[in-house]
Amino acid sequence: MSRFPRRFIDDSSMEDAGISLCPSIHYRPINPNDLDRLEQIHRDIFPIKYESEFFQSVVNGVDTVSWAAVDRSRPDDHSDELIGFVTAKFVLAKDSEIDDLIHYDSSKGEETLIYILTLGVVETYRNRGIAMSLISEVIKYASGLSVCRGVYLHVIAHNNAAICLYKRLMFRCVRRLHGFYLIKRHHFDAFLFVYFINGSRTPCSPLEVAMFVVNYMKSGIKSVASKLANKDEKDLSLLWYGQFTPTQKERVHDFIESLNFDAKEGLDPKVSAWWKVVESYQERFEVKDIYRQKKSNRTVAPRIKVKVVRSYVDEKMKYGKELTMGNGEKLVETAIGNMSKVVPVVLLSAQVRAHGVGFCDGTCQHNALAKIKGQKEPRRYIMVSNPEVECPGECAWPFHTADKGPRGMTYQPASGEVGADALVIQLATGLADLATNPDLTKSLFKSETTPYNDDVKKNHESSSMYIVDPATKCTRVFGSGAFPGFTGRIRVDPITGGAFNSHGINHLKFLIPSIWDPKTKSCWTPM
Ligand code: ACO
Repeated sequence: MSRFPRRFIDDSSMEDAGISLCPSIHYRPINPNDLDRLEQIHRDIFPIKYESEFFQSVVNGVDTVSWAAVDRSRPDDHSDELIGFVTAKFVLAKDSEIDDLIHYDSSKGEETLIYILTLGVVETYRNRGIAMSLISEVIKYASGLSVCRGVYLHVIAHNNAAICLYKRLMFRCVRRLHGFYLIKRHHFDAFLFVYFINGSRTPCSPLEVAMFVVNYMKSGIKSVASKLANKDEKDLSLLWYGQFTPTQKERVHDFIESLNFDAKEGLDPKVSAWWKVVESYQERFEVKDIYRQKKSNRTVAPRIKVKVVRSYVDEKMKYGKELTMGNGEKLVETAIGNMSKVVPVVLLSAQVRAHGVGFCDGTCQHNALAKIKGQKEPRRYIMVSNPEVECPGECAWPFHTADKGPRGMTYQPASGEVGADALVIQLATGLADLATNPDLTKSLFKSETTPYNDDVKKNHESSSMYIVDPATKCTRVFGSGAFPGFTGRIRVDPITGGAFNSHGINHLKFLIPSIWDPKTKSCWTPM
């Protein structure tokens, strides 16, 4: 709800929109014929009054863009009548109140933002995903404009429905503005929400926080460096090798942030519950000794804090597009940079060919040791190839048809991009395997059989090996009751159609792999 020129009015009740049993919702631009209805709905649902110039500019498209939702199943004279709307206007990024949050790209010329003025759905049509679709129209439109860096809006601080909606759509709340609205002589706070597009991000993003930490380290502040060296922290240094979509980057950062997010208010099951299984490996092996030494009775494994401390992009692919053993090491070195304690994570984009170097064998990631020039000890690293392009039938299942074995059902990714959600599955596998310390799991798994996954089992038996990695051991299991070709119990978001089995920060949904639980000797699944 914008702070467009207004006077103040009393609330009034909405007329019954006469909803049919089977509504057929369509979206179209708002036009001059919508004027009366648009004014009426605004009067009915907003506590502030909008001036007639506002409605004139919306219906005539003067500096504004807008969409209407209509129900075609209503009787003829109502079938094109507004039952929902979103109105927005263009704002120059440099003149906006969030210009400090925008990373300017001088090569792109004058950059713009889209500011959502009003959004509303008549009461009888609520909770059907109409607002979500209207805002998605705005995002789609903005994403298609190369000069547009984001969509932003204000919402009154007590409007829970709208706040949940924007969070659900991955908007970021960047500010609380005290006394922003004046309604019936009372001041009310507002939240400022932004959806960054075309590579723009908030300074509070994980990437920026990471850069902040890196700068501290560079300036020699020892306390930060010693914190990073702490035993139960995994400080990740990401190398994005090649070109990635904003969604891919966002998903990876959000997933990593979700690993330690176990606040009560979040939805269950959580990504952090899965990470706790990873943490439980410490309890079983190393930590028992630590506790014994300290004469403590605690049995809970300490947290393994994961964060991104550096995120480095090499879009031009300095070491070529063909991954080999030789340049693989160079990529790990680049990911490490000059940081001594980080875990290097190399993410390979769709342009990189990585066949013949250990990928596409039931998994598109590996974690291993690399000898780094000038360093005594080899460094453990994670490398993830692009699961969508590299060998989707192996690594992007269940978002892509399986190459081998029963094909099973395929699902939509929660983010809308196979390349983003499949990347998260591969990265999650790599992180879990790395954090559980292969040297210790080796002795445990020697005596255990591999779960159902025949492909993985066959490959490893034929080379007289057993699987030492807790997540790789459960490849292709996503929920309870899994069997070849069937993910096991997972959920599908009724609005986006995206498959998921766990929740992370900001109510985001993820499909994460299952992990071998040493206590139950079975694959642990969130559902
Ligand atoms: N309580 C909590 N969350 C809600 C609610 C609610 N009452 N309504 C919607 N949401 C959230 C949920 O996360 C929901 O997803 P979920 O059901 O999967 O959990 C998500 O929003 C999508 O809901 P939609 O069905 O798309 O929303 P709807 O079509 O019902 O419209 C809206 C929501 C626009 C807020 C409607 O309630 C409304 O018109 N309210 C009055 C006007 C208003 O407040 N407008 C927004 C002001 S901000 C601005 O204009 C910039």
